[in-house]
Amino acid sequence: MVSTVKKSDFDEMRPGIKTPSKETLLTPRFYTTDFDEIAKMDISVNEDELQAILEEFRADYNQKHFVRDAEFEQSWDHIDGESRRLFVEFLERSCTAEFSGFLLYKELGRRLKKTSPLLAECFNLMSRDEARHAGFLNKAMSDFNLSLDLGFLTKSRKYTFFKPKFIFYATYLSEKIGYWRYITIYRHLEQHPEDRIYPIFRFFENWCQDENRHGDFFDAMMRAVPETLNDWKARLWCRFFLLSVFATMYLNDLQRSGFYEAIGLNARDYDRHVIEKTNETAGRVFPIVLDVKNPEFYNRLETCVQHNEKLSEISQSNAPKPLQLLQKLPHFASMGWNLVKLYFMKPITMEQGVVR
Ligand SMILES: [Fe+2]
Ligand SMILES: [Fe+2]
Repeated sequence: MVSTVKKSDFDEMRPGIKTPSKETLLTPRFYTTDFDEIAKMDISVNEDELQAILEEFRADYNQKHFVRDAEFEQSWDHIDGESRRLFVEFLERSCTAEFSGFLLYKELGRRLKKTSPLLAECFNLMSRDEARHAGFLNKAMSDFNLSLDLGFLTKSRKYTFFKPKFIFYATYLSEKIGYWRYITIYRHLEQHPEDRIYPIFRFFENWCQDENRHGDFFDAMMRAVPETLNDWKARLWCRFFLLSVFATMYLNDLQRSGFYEAIGLNARDYDRHVIEKTNETAGRVFPIVLDVKNPEFYNRLETCVQHNEKLSEISQSNAPKPLQLLQKLPHFASMGWNLVKLYFMKPITMEQGVVR
């Protein structure tokens, strides 16, 4: 039987290799950090917990989980048009985010090998998990006749430098938000199997446990270095990272609500649930969380969504670039203003803070 290979809706660098999406403020980033500073950290106050987490990583519960079964072996040409575009985009973004974790953890594992063997092994085992996740997603892309050249991505992407404590806040949150994203989709599709348009979602239940363990590692790491949590600067930065992670996800997902619709979810409700849960989880370690139940929180985010829509309309218009920039300015300004107001909303102080 001759399979029908559809012409791709995407730009390809080589046949079947998708040109990576353009980097914007809202695309997944690649990180680097000050490895020596981490090597010098004294983690002795929480070493027992980190050791226990390492034992969990070693147990490798998902060693045999990421194996493609017979359900993948069929044509996916019936997912077409806009749904196909959104679906491939979802796979690409997820794969890039997982791969970004792999690169950072791998490098941390390598650089800390001599000075901090416990941390090095934790990072190596987390990079093992992220490699599996990224590989599984990339293989899924090949079901749509595309894949990412991860070697090319490694060399061509810009790396954002973050001081170690910012890496801890950002990766902690991205692991925990990843957990809530995967588990929420999984639980929804468990209730509505008719919306499970592709088998990858079946893997999310065990998969998200990897992300949860990774998040727990950073939780333990921050408590091992209490100055990341217990002063006024920590409170300001935790607010900043919570807001950045929530706002980025909200703007991204609402721009792609068609994807969530295709699996029977309302992007808005889904995101609000994920934000509420992640905020709640973060409260177990962060000294402060956001007041996401205050109506002002979503009112302002919705204003940002509207401006974001206008910005993409302008980008897609035929107007010359300088004119586009001029048209975009008021939207950037208002979005910026709303984000500043969101940042200064009264947060919720967690009484238990560092002590648990
Ligand atoms: Fe992952
Ligand atoms: Fe992870």
